[in-house]
Amino acid sequence: MNYTRRNLIQFAGAGLTLAVVKPSAEAGMKPPVATGNIKAVNKDADDSKIISLDRLEQQAKEVMSPGAYAFISGASGAEWTLHENRRAFNDYPILTHRLADILEEDIDLSTELLGHQIPYPVICAPAGVHTFVHPEGELVSAKGVSDAGTIFQCSGASAKPLEAIAEASTGPKWFQLYFNADLGVTKDLLLRAKHSGYNAIILTTDALGPGSSEGFSSLGRPFPSGFTFGNHDPRFGGRGDFRNQKANLTPKDIEFVASVSGLPVIVKGIMRGKDADNAISAGAAAIQVSNHGGRQLDGLPAAISVLPEVANHVKKRVPIIFDSGIRRGIDVFRALCLGADAVAIGRPMLYGLSVGGAKGVQNVFEHLRDELRIAMLLAGCASTKNLSSDFLMNTMKNNT
Ligand code: FNR
Repeated sequence: MNYTRRNLIQFAGAGLTLAVVKPSAEAGMKPPVATGNIKAVNKDADDSKIISLDRLEQQAKEVMSPGAYAFISGASGAEWTLHENRRAFNDYPILTHRLADILEEDIDLSTELLGHQIPYPVICAPAGVHTFVHPEGELVSAKGVSDAGTIFQCSGASAKPLEAIAEASTGPKWFQLYFNADLGVTKDLLLRAKHSGYNAIILTTDALGPGSSEGFSSLGRPFPSGFTFGNHDPRFGGRGDFRNQKANLTPKDIEFVASVSGLPVIVKGIMRGKDADNAISAGAAAIQVSNHGGRQLDGLPAAISVLPEVANHVKKRVPIIFDSGIRRGIDVFRALCLGADAVAIGRPMLYGLSVGGAKGVQNVFEHLRDELRIAMLLAGCASTKNLSSDFLMNTMKNNT
């Protein structure tokens, strides 16, 4: 059966390929203007129901320009790591507990993360250039994430300046730093983030050179017209060259970020236990296990495959956030069983933004929350705090 073709007919039937959008007060959206990168936004977004995040990606592909879709969905090299990020969840089949005496309303997904109480353990990963899929970019996605009640990790490569994004968000927000080789520029970014109300800094350690997507390059790397990096744009009080990143990061840079900002530092891009140890010794307040969604070094193992080893080293000294490949509630379930305290999602949030603005973003998070709750019920576990490798087969396989 040709599902793709059938789905496209359904999506077209739901009005998802229309070229105009109804202004939505709830979503805080302005009607998108046609740009080279935005083909259309779903006119009926507020009513849309997500069936699955894989199907949402197909809807998003319909409304995005080919360039935007290539940029977001793509990854580096032959995209082996990208695919492995999904496949490797299958290495951990779920083992249920039966006769567990649990009602759906008993299930507790709430989580505390660096002082924030969140209703379920799914947060928003940092991703650059949200204006690829919505003219107001991060201003709309930040609102959608706070409406979903969770944490917005704001990319240092945003199209909008961090101050405006902070204003658009009513919830907890963390600023992701690309450490600039000019220390003055890095200091400025940290102080601006602190003064704008960001609650923590994420130091990304795995993007030390330009990521490459063959699909995006083959289209001539079509960035949105008029695009600038919002945090470095002098019109918004920024300075410095975004591309001048410090490639030779060391643990001392974690100390620098912590001492200048006075905020907790999450170290993102960790793929082995020893590196987590070094980061914690240098003052990391949390570890983000991630291979950048396969967008940097192709050939890395799936992030889920290294999570048990990292968790064994961290031994609950600091929280672990996991990202790269989460698409279903059962993926969140398995990541929590393998030692994560919360997970972050990148591409699905952008797909939600493209089809439904702020409401579309909110729907993505709530969809994963609902899928996680059902997974917990069916697996026989009443609280995410009780998830452990006991719920998975083969947990010793990669647990070296
Ligand atoms: C990213 N990611 C990313 N990470 C980061 O630390 N800073 C950034 O600016 C970006 N930019 C970015 C852009 C786009 C379009 C994507 C899809 C991703 C990586 C991101 O934070 C996260 O690690 C991955 O997206 C997680 O994988 P999934 O959820 O997309 O499978």
